[in-house]
Amino acid sequence: MNIEHLVLGGERVPAANGKSFTVIEPGLGEPFAEVAEAGTEDVEQAVHTAYKAFDEGRWPRLSATERGRVLLKASTLLGERLEEIAVVEARNAGKPIRDARGEVGLAAAVFEYWGGAANKIFGETIPVQDAGLEITLREPVGVCGLITPWNFPLVIASWKIAPALACGNTVVVKPAQLTPLSVLVLADILMEAGVPPGVISVLPGPGSAIGSALVTHPLVSKVSFTGSTEVGSHIMRLCADNITRVSLELGGKAANVVFSDADLERCIDASVYAVFGNCGQDCCARSRLLVQWPIYEEFVERLTRRTAALYVGQPLDERTEVGPLISAGQRQRSLDYVTLGQEEGAQLVAGGTPGDNAGYFLQPAIFTHVENKMRIAQEEIFGPVVCVIPFESEEEAMRQANDVSYGLAGSVWTRDLGRAIRVTKGIRAGVLSVNSNHSVHTEAPFGGYKKSGFGREMGMHAVQLYTEVKSVFFSQE
Ligand code: TAP
Repeated sequence: MNIEHLVLGGERVPAANGKSFTVIEPGLGEPFAEVAEAGTEDVEQAVHTAYKAFDEGRWPRLSATERGRVLLKASTLLGERLEEIAVVEARNAGKPIRDARGEVGLAAAVFEYWGGAANKIFGETIPVQDAGLEITLREPVGVCGLITPWNFPLVIASWKIAPALACGNTVVVKPAQLTPLSVLVLADILMEAGVPPGVISVLPGPGSAIGSALVTHPLVSKVSFTGSTEVGSHIMRLCADNITRVSLELGGKAANVVFSDADLERCIDASVYAVFGNCGQDCCARSRLLVQWPIYEEFVERLTRRTAALYVGQPLDERTEVGPLISAGQRQRSLDYVTLGQEEGAQLVAGGTPGDNAGYFLQPAIFTHVENKMRIAQEEIFGPVVCVIPFESEEEAMRQANDVSYGLAGSVWTRDLGRAIRVTKGIRAGVLSVNSNHSVHTEAPFGGYKKSGFGREMGMHAVQLYTEVKSVFFSQE
């Protein structure tokens, strides 16, 4: 098997220590690729190269319009290679091919957005008391260390790389070891589009070693992390010593609040995808379905029927709606929660059984008779498991929605506009949707409250993550 090399210094190179690791295809449970395993020497080299590219290189000194053109070119190239990259993403991350195509399209849209946004990043003029002119400049932060998870490898990498580059930074990316392949291709595309050598490096390897080395490197000015709350908290501590800027997008336990006046036909269909999409491995997964008592029985019955009709299968099968989990370990974690839920007294009314082939499949599971204080309702399972929880009133719905340590996403289903406004204002989460399960948009801010992290990716809000504000006063004397 050929080794997929690191991206470093504008080319593909083997790891300095010559090591590699095997990437598994979760649909088959078999080796899929061999990838160079970066070590701390590679981090050292990538960060120094990125620092030089920032300190002396062309990229931050190009006009913003020229940087934007390079990102637009990358968007076009992504579009041209959509099918090829989608197949890689589907096989590596276990995604249904239809979803994988959509995600490559999303990544192309993110680069298109930032291609257009690059020359719309500017400061202010401020009317100060002293005689003269006060302005602010938005300047790039420097070398950005970007650490990404395995659940949306290409999309989440794009959310970080595109704004960081648009603002004139240089980046070193540490993708998840389980899914490094699409990000390596993305870096090839960026270099082909005109990103100069050293401006982007991609270092697959173990987070505990090279992720930590990247985060604590004194030449790294900014860290952007997406992943578990546990590792996020650790990274925040690591960033403290060098006062490295950090933004964190962490876990979630989103509530999907369904009032009895909701359009059930649309709501049930959307609710199934809102939790079982990406096999539940989504920080925005609406894994707590809060359903108002008058429609509870009917809702559970229809939800169960709709879930049973989902096509669970191999990622490359066009019919597949739910693929495998990412790894045997991640499936076992979900299975453990299925057991725990039953021990806690919840009723398993559908799914929860592993498939009988070698891939990491699990039939989507529905629990009823769940109380919000149970661990299955409090902890992020990150698998295809939903808890259906009844409520009486608006107040109770909001109380339950907020009664978790996370605050990332959520949905509200109602035809009553006043109620929609009251409840969305009452829920403490960063991204909400009303009568829809879509809360992630390229053009709109995305990020969490509470233990779901801080900082907003996407839309022009992301500029704040990747720039410093410089205040300059010109005396008119
Ligand atoms: P994490 O362990 O948090 O891994 C995320 C990224 O951080 C990976 O690239 C990982 O590298 C790296 N990393 C791990 N330890 C590190 C350290 N000490 N310093 C720097 N980087 C480090 O998440 P996971 O193992 O992929 O998934 C575990 C749980 O995290 C899931 O079950 C889920 O609850 C949650 N999760 C949340 C999200 C989102 S979008 N919020 C995404 C994925 C997972 P390696 O891959 O090499 O370990």
